[in-house]
Amino acid sequence: MSNYHIKHLEEYYGVYRKSIQKPEVFWEEVAEEHFLWRKRWDKVLSWDFNKPEIKWFEGAKLNITENCIDRHLTVRGDKTAILFEPNSPDEPAQHITYKELHERVNRFANVLKQEGIQKGDRVCIYLPMIPELAISVLACARIGAVHSVVFAGFSSTALSTRINDCEAKMVLTSDGSYRGAKTIDLKGIVDEALEDCSCVDTVLVAKRIQSDIQMKDGRDKWLQPLLDVASDQCEAEIMDAEDPLFILYTSGSTGMPKGMLHTTGGYMVYTAYTFKNVFQYDENDVYWCTADIGWITGHSYIVYGPLANGATTVMFEGVPSYPDMGRFWEIVEKHKVNQFYTAPTAIRALAKENLDFVEKYDLSSLKVLGSVGEPINEEAWHWYNDNVGKKKSPIVDTWWQTETGGIMISPIPFATPTKPTYATLPLPGINPSLMDENGIEIKGNQVDGRLCIKAPWPSIARSIWGNHQRYKDTYFSAYDNMYFTGDGALRDEVGYYRITGRVDDVIIVSGHNLGTAPIEDAVNEHQAVAESAIVGFPHDIKGNALYGYVILKETGETRNQDNLRKEINQIITEHIGPIAKLDKIQFTSGLPKTRSGKIMRRILRKIAGKDTSNLGDTSTLLNPEVVQEIIDNAL
Ligand code: WT7
Repeated sequence: MSNYHIKHLEEYYGVYRKSIQKPEVFWEEVAEEHFLWRKRWDKVLSWDFNKPEIKWFEGAKLNITENCIDRHLTVRGDKTAILFEPNSPDEPAQHITYKELHERVNRFANVLKQEGIQKGDRVCIYLPMIPELAISVLACARIGAVHSVVFAGFSSTALSTRINDCEAKMVLTSDGSYRGAKTIDLKGIVDEALEDCSCVDTVLVAKRIQSDIQMKDGRDKWLQPLLDVASDQCEAEIMDAEDPLFILYTSGSTGMPKGMLHTTGGYMVYTAYTFKNVFQYDENDVYWCTADIGWITGHSYIVYGPLANGATTVMFEGVPSYPDMGRFWEIVEKHKVNQFYTAPTAIRALAKENLDFVEKYDLSSLKVLGSVGEPINEEAWHWYNDNVGKKKSPIVDTWWQTETGGIMISPIPFATPTKPTYATLPLPGINPSLMDENGIEIKGNQVDGRLCIKAPWPSIARSIWGNHQRYKDTYFSAYDNMYFTGDGALRDEVGYYRITGRVDDVIIVSGHNLGTAPIEDAVNEHQAVAESAIVGFPHDIKGNALYGYVILKETGETRNQDNLRKEINQIITEHIGPIAKLDKIQFTSGLPKTRSGKIMRRILRKIAGKDTSNLGDTSTLLNPEVVQEIIDNAL
């Protein structure tokens, strides 16, 4: 029996049982059979959730790019590794073979070295979805540098915060990016960010939109001339299994974004294993994940997981709405995509459009459809199933997080019967539990609680960069000896899981994880604002949208409210990015507070969601009278 590739439900249950009873034996077999190690591990797993400390494949040596590239050269050197589909359908797609990828990664790696980057140094990557993004990620991994990709939709302030937090020595960017009919001045954003960063010595700039940009002497260099003269041979740096591979920032409910630290060996094994099983990838398939590499989905399921399996992975530069709402389906037809992985927010937006946009194209190549990032509602699930999958491609609703590195709960297509809105069963190696508010595990089925995981899996984040205490506090302190996910979930009568949403102050807007506190901090920067509170409310397309309650200083109260709203959103755009803009801003004289001064967000959430039927007991509030005022003026 192969542990690596599950094809039937009985097989799943058998493999699952073994993986939970004997995780070391299970993962050792997977690691042994399917990867290239320069030295074997001394110990498969050691862990202590109290410290917390987690080590997989300790003592092993490897380079992840040898697994993602070199070892494929003899068997599939001429196979397309990365299929680049540009923003404009008029620009030809690029088929980058494994051989070419090998050359280009090596050249890039040599440029990094020549520019002073060494093993362990952090490199910040702020690039659009062009081949250089995937190649630079792999080039860092080739030489043991730690990449920190920042999504190229983040603002300059968000960028500088992340650069400073991980003390990146270098930034990789481009002269701009295409986004549908628009262009974005990425280099200008980098210049602005770097005014606040003293750690960066070098900025390498890729050419994409041929714009006339400023180059700062001694700091900025064009990338291409350096690549042109670099050698296409670069010995892979031999890494320890537990050496850092990358840092990726994610929002927390409070404070700074958290730099989740992922390490090499376990991350590789788990992303490769889950890619194979969740997408049932076969050798000649074309796989497409529509995410941006700036998110964990792109790291694990555009770059590392697919390439570790020798797959053809599509990288799409554009947006689903350009030149029209049929673009996704046009690409599926054009490249005969077999596995298609996207987010519920995209599905909902496309479902609003005329069906012609879908029906115009031949989607018969599709075998598996995926969903990720937030709960998929029943309507969107059926639309996807009926119109895209034509009821014959199973939908894998994959639940996971930046912190988990890989997919945790998901159907295995053609094995696990799917059920709308259910992520269904834990993958091998994942042992979930539901906890009540008193820290007691809720056993049995048909129950709901807070989702925790009882034991480590190979790709769990090992720390928060520079703040191990926060890692402990956030994930390992709510419940004894468990990883706490921050999500609520229910378990149905057959043991299927349905994720019900965040139970903390993180709001998922269009699949993007946003913490309320940093947005409130931005709003409070406005000189007319005294205090603010932000909550989520249900939104047709975005899943959740943001609702801000704002108390103005006396000086601000006479100002035009629409102008104030615009200015507040402008500040948010500058501090975080346009994704964090507020859909509704209600000005109020007060916020409901407990006697200890805590804002009662539960009440604000209900009012924002137009559900004021049961606000609970408000009489114990410090200022109960304000509740009625807020209801009366709700937007
Ligand atoms: C949060 C993690 C994992 C890559 C993208 C998001 C929510 C994610 C699902 C799903 C319901 C989901 C959770 C989770 N989430 N996938 N299939 N069903 N909720 O990564 O930005 O770290 O966000 O996204 O609330 O905690 P992330």
